[in-house]
Amino acid sequence: MSQILIADDEKSMRDFLKILLNKEGHQVTTAKDAKEALDAVKSAPFDLVITDIRMPGMSGLELLEEIKEYNIDLPVIMITAFASPDDAVTAMKNGAFDYISKPFNVDEIKSVIASANSQYQAREQSACLSSLFPSIIGESREMLKIFDMIHRVAPTPANVLIYGESGTGKELVAQAIHSHSQVAKNPFVPITCSAIPEELMESELFGHVKGSFTGAIHDKAGLFSEADSGTAFLDEIGELTPIIQTKLLRVLQEREIKPVGGTKIKHINVRIIAATNKILEEEIKAGRFREDLFYRLAVVPLRVPPLRERKGDIPRLVDHFLQKYSRILGKEVREISSYALEVLLKYDFPGNVRELENIIERGVALENSNIVLPESLSLSNSMRSSARRAESDEDDIPSIFCAVRSEEELFDLGLEKVVNDLEKRLIQFGLEKTNNSKMKAADLLQISFRSLRYKTKKYGLD
Ligand SMILES: Nc1ncnc2c1ncn2[C@@H]1O[C@H](COP(=O)(O)OP(=O)(O)OP(=O)(O)O)[C@@H](O)[C@H]1O
Ligand SMILES: [Mg+2]
Repeated sequence: MSQILIADDEKSMRDFLKILLNKEGHQVTTAKDAKEALDAVKSAPFDLVITDIRMPGMSGLELLEEIKEYNIDLPVIMITAFASPDDAVTAMKNGAFDYISKPFNVDEIKSVIASANSQYQAREQSACLSSLFPSIIGESREMLKIFDMIHRVAPTPANVLIYGESGTGKELVAQAIHSHSQVAKNPFVPITCSAIPEELMESELFGHVKGSFTGAIHDKAGLFSEADSGTAFLDEIGELTPIIQTKLLRVLQEREIKPVGGTKIKHINVRIIAATNKILEEEIKAGRFREDLFYRLAVVPLRVPPLRERKGDIPRLVDHFLQKYSRILGKEVREISSYALEVLLKYDFPGNVRELENIIERGVALENSNIVLPESLSLSNSMRSSARRAESDEDDIPSIFCAVRSEEELFDLGLEKVVNDLEKRLIQFGLEKTNNSKMKAADLLQISFRSLRYKTKKYGLD
């Protein structure tokens, strides 16, 4: 069910839509003119507005503009008279979701409304989700899936196994799960399994009593005691030796630990989040990881995808790291040149977000101006060649966008010349793609036929 606002000066039309939409299960509010509709939008949350275009006083098109100014995401469907296709075009250009022509086709109305609703709700939901995790930057579909998973699994006591390549943000995800859990106020204790020699691992995990081995000069609590009633984060779990795997499994089954050299058994209540950059299924097949331990840890498995599978997140991550390192390094390098960003977008980042972070940190440190240029990205050779490879793989679009190749050229020519040159190239490109059909090219480029005709004349493309 959604909240729908209908604006129409004709009462019969308002009633008709109201009955139709009520039957579909929606809550409907009606307004007899644009002003009333605008007041309603500003005083209650709506999921959708349907408005007539021709109304006395403020028109539907003006209402659309006002609504978009107030809440750009709120979908607005316009009702147009059959005889006014120009209005429809204007409406779409100004951000209308769609238009329905009179006389109505009921099925058409229903389907337009359904798709407006589902798009709006998906967007609202994802904006809301990502705002729950401010420390994790990402708006790609892949990251939204992860936010959704974190959101759902965090309040439960289930053990989570986070896996993915190095530098993808597994630790951030683990922290986010803890801080959204019911034990967020209790300790979050991380341990990196690969960093501890086997002979010390048992004592690191379960503690030891004084004198139990050479060097054990005090009692030691160990990870599980420290994390009691909180979360233990076992990083690089794939590195555990078989003996420790067996001991860990027993602890998970019995929920109790016995410190090295001790006799007293201690009950513990710890949620385990484990992380690995290995494919544990392969480790199991190779006999290096216990399958039963895997199932205990991976009650909820969560894959963090590599950065190259979510390149859409790169611009926001770059921006985030620019602000971060400008602050840390006391500089004002808060932007990146579009060419430098383009190079980054073509790179595959084997080191994932950590590598991107390092590149930007270095860029900020080395940059003397206040915008990161390709020169200060200190691109490695592999990066340059992967950027070049990507360039030669693509079709002819990118060269079209490169109206200028350097800063000097840009300032030499000036904005107007560069923009005109780009416009000319794009129109030429549109005409080539459509075998010189101005009608189709205008469609493709989403401008009116008249304005395309004007521009082809202007640039001598006839
Ligand atoms: N989505 C993100 N938003 C902001 N920072 C991120 C994001 N993902 C990763 N980072 C940053 O990248 C670095 C690496 O992240 P993290 O340590 O969580 O990766 P990891 O997957 O645990 O890597 P490894 O497998 O090497 O331990 C950290 O500095 C982290 O803050
Ligand atoms: Mg890590």
